[in-house]
Amino acid sequence: MSRRILVTSALPNANGPIHLGHMLEHVQTDIWVRFQRMRGNQTIYVCADDTHGTATMIKADEESVTPELLVENIRQLHIKDFQGFLISHDNYYSTHSDENQHFSSLIYNRLQEKGLIFTKEVEQLYDSEKGLFLADRFVVGGCPKCKVEGQYGDNCEACGATYDATDLIDPKSIYSGATPELRASTHYFFDLASYSQFLKDWTRTDAVQPEIANKLSEWLDDGLRPWDISRDAPYFGFTIPGTTDKYFYVWMDAPIGYMASFQNYCSAQNDPNLQFDDFWNVGSSAEVHHFIGKDIVNFHALFWPAVLDGAGFRTPTKVHTHGFVTVDGTKMSKSRGTFILAEKYLEHLNPEYLRYYYAAKLSNSVDDLDINLEDFVLRVNSDLVGKVINIASRTAGFLVKNFDGIMSDGIHDSALMAKFTEQAENIAALYERGEFSKAVREITGLADLANQYIAQHEPWAMVKNPELRDKVQLVCSQAINMFRFLAIFLKPILPVTAEKAEEFLGVAPLAWSDCGHLLSGHKINKFKPMLQRIEGKTVAHLVDASVEPAEQSAENKTAEKNKQQKTSKHAKQENDTSNSEFIDIDDFTKVSLKVARIISAEAVEGADKLLKLTLNVGDHERFVFSGIKEAYNPEDLVGRLTVVVANLAPRKMRFGVSEGMVLAAGPGGANFFLLAPDSGAEPGMDVK
Ligand code: 2FM
Ligand code: ZN
Repeated sequence: MSRRILVTSALPNANGPIHLGHMLEHVQTDIWVRFQRMRGNQTIYVCADDTHGTATMIKADEESVTPELLVENIRQLHIKDFQGFLISHDNYYSTHSDENQHFSSLIYNRLQEKGLIFTKEVEQLYDSEKGLFLADRFVVGGCPKCKVEGQYGDNCEACGATYDATDLIDPKSIYSGATPELRASTHYFFDLASYSQFLKDWTRTDAVQPEIANKLSEWLDDGLRPWDISRDAPYFGFTIPGTTDKYFYVWMDAPIGYMASFQNYCSAQNDPNLQFDDFWNVGSSAEVHHFIGKDIVNFHALFWPAVLDGAGFRTPTKVHTHGFVTVDGTKMSKSRGTFILAEKYLEHLNPEYLRYYYAAKLSNSVDDLDINLEDFVLRVNSDLVGKVINIASRTAGFLVKNFDGIMSDGIHDSALMAKFTEQAENIAALYERGEFSKAVREITGLADLANQYIAQHEPWAMVKNPELRDKVQLVCSQAINMFRFLAIFLKPILPVTAEKAEEFLGVAPLAWSDCGHLLSGHKINKFKPMLQRIEGKTVAHLVDASVEPAEQSAENKTAEKNKQQKTSKHAKQENDTSNSEFIDIDDFTKVSLKVARIISAEAVEGADKLLKLTLNVGDHERFVFSGIKEAYNPEDLVGRLTVVVANLAPRKMRFGVSEGMVLAAGPGGANFFLLAPDSGAEPGMDVK
C-alpha cells in the first residue's frame, strides 16, 4: 500500500530575499518529495512565509506600507524564486492567515486547559521613544567584558563573551537610539519542563538523526526551562485568546504554519482522500516529515513535539536536519560575491546545475555543505553532460538514421543490463535515507559502465560494415535502455532534463516502477541537446554580479557601526597622522600577522606574476594570490612556513578571491624573498 506523506521545509522569514542557503533546504526537500512521488506515495509538500514579529512591523513602517502588504509582496517574490529552482511545493502559504490564527488559538486553548500554560512577570529592555520592548538583537552597546563598542544583544563579536543585554555599557535601541529602560510585563509560558521525559524518549526514536539526538540529550540533561510564548504589543502577529495586548511569539505560530498551509491546501483540493485529520490526529498512519537547518533544531525537536502532544496532535515522523552552506570553504559573504541570491543565480545559470551539485554533496548528516565553485563547474560538466547525456547523444543518431528510431527486441549484454536493474532498489533506499551523494555516486558509476560499453563496441565503426547492422541496433538500443535507467534515477534531481529525456525516448512520465521493464521494439525520437555545459566564466560573472560594496553588506554593518561610534575618539588621531609617514601604534596593532604553512602553490592561468597559494593558518585553510611567481617555482614553496596578514579584508581579483597577503621582502620581480619564520613556528601562531 502506498504511503501518505506530508513534507515541509522550514518557513523562510518574510523579511528578505531567498539565497542559496535557503535553496539547499528546499532542493533537499524537493528531491526527497519528487522521489516519493515517483514511488507512488501520496506526497504533499507545503511551505509558507514566516511573517510575524517586530522586524516585519518595523520594516513595514520604514517602507510606509502595512505589514500585510509587505509580507504578501515578499511572499510573491519567494514563490517566484522557488519556482525558478523547480521546487514543487503543493502550497506556499503565509503564517499570517486565518487558518494559522485558528490553529494557534486552538492549540493554545488546549494547552491552557491541560494546565500547561502559566504567566510570570518578566523584566525586559524597553524603548520608550518607539514604545516597544526590545529583543536582545535590537540593543547595541559596549561589551561589559572587553569594552569594545557596538556589540549587539547578548554576545560580543570581539571577545566572544556572553552576557545579558541589560549588562551592555551605554546600551541604545537600534531603532531610536534612545537609552532603553527596564520594564516589567506579564509573559505567557509553556511548561516545557513537564515534557522532559517525553522528549528524552521521543528524541531517541529514529525521529531525529543520531548526532542531533546526542546534542539534544545535552540540553535535556541540563534541564528544560519554561518557554516564553508571548510578546507585548505592539507586535505583528496574533493576539493570545483572552488578551488584547499579548501576542503569540513568532516561534509559537511559525511551526503551526505547517498545519495551516496544509489545511489551506486540503480545503482547496476538496478531496475525500485528503483530510487534515487523517494526517494530524494521534495514531495517524500518515507520515509528517520536516526538513530544517541545524540552527533551529530546538524549536522542531523539543518545543514542537511537546506542543503538539500537549494539544492532542500527533508528533512528527521525522525531523531531517542539514548543515549550513559555505562557498569555497568560508561563510557566504556579500563582499566576496558569494552571498548569492536565488534570483541572481537564475539570471546566470540553470537551476538544475545547482540541484545536481547539492545532491552530489548531500548526505543525511548535519555537516556543512561547501560549494566549491571550480568543483561545481567540473562536476556538472563532466558527470551530467560528459557522462549521462553523452550516452544518448553518442548512440541515438545511429538508431534514428538507420532504423527509423526503432530499438531492437533483444538484449545485447544482459549481464551489464542487470547491473542497472539490480541497482534500482539500492538507489531508492539511498534516496529514502537522504543519502543523495551516495545515490549520485552509484548513478554516475553506472553511467561510466554505459560509456565504457559504447566505447568498447564503437557503433560509429560498426555502422560502416553492413554485416554488423543488427549489432549496431542492439548496442545502441542497449545504450538507450541504460540511458533511460539513468533518467529515472536522476529524475528527482533533474526534473526538466528528465522531461526532455521522456520526450526524446517517446515515453510517458517515468516512475520508479518503470525500472521493472526495458524498452524493446520501441521507437525513439531524434536526439536534441538536453543540458548545456557550464562555461567557467558564467560563474565568475555571477560572483561579480553578487559582490556588494563592503559598506552595504550586513556582515559589515557592525564594523561600520563600530567605526561610526568610534569616530569621536579616533578622528583627532587620524588627522594628526594624515600628513606624516608615521602610522600610529594603534593602527599597527590592528594588523594581525600569523604564521602559515604553504600547502599548495600553483601558477594562475593568464597571470604572469601570480601564484595561488593554499595556506594552513592553524585552524583553517585559505587561498591567497601572491605576486611572487617570477621568484619561485611553485613546487619549491610547498611545505614552507611564511607570514600572512590574516585580517586583510578579502579582495576580489580577476582570478578569484584573495583571503589575505603573504609577506615578502625585496624590490619585486625575481627579487622577492618570502618571509619565513624559524622551523619551530606552528601555523596559526601570532607574529608579534
Ligand atoms: O529560522 C527561520 O528562518 C524561521 N523562519 C524558520 C521557521 S520554521 C517553522 F517553524 F516555521
Ligand atoms: Zn567583548
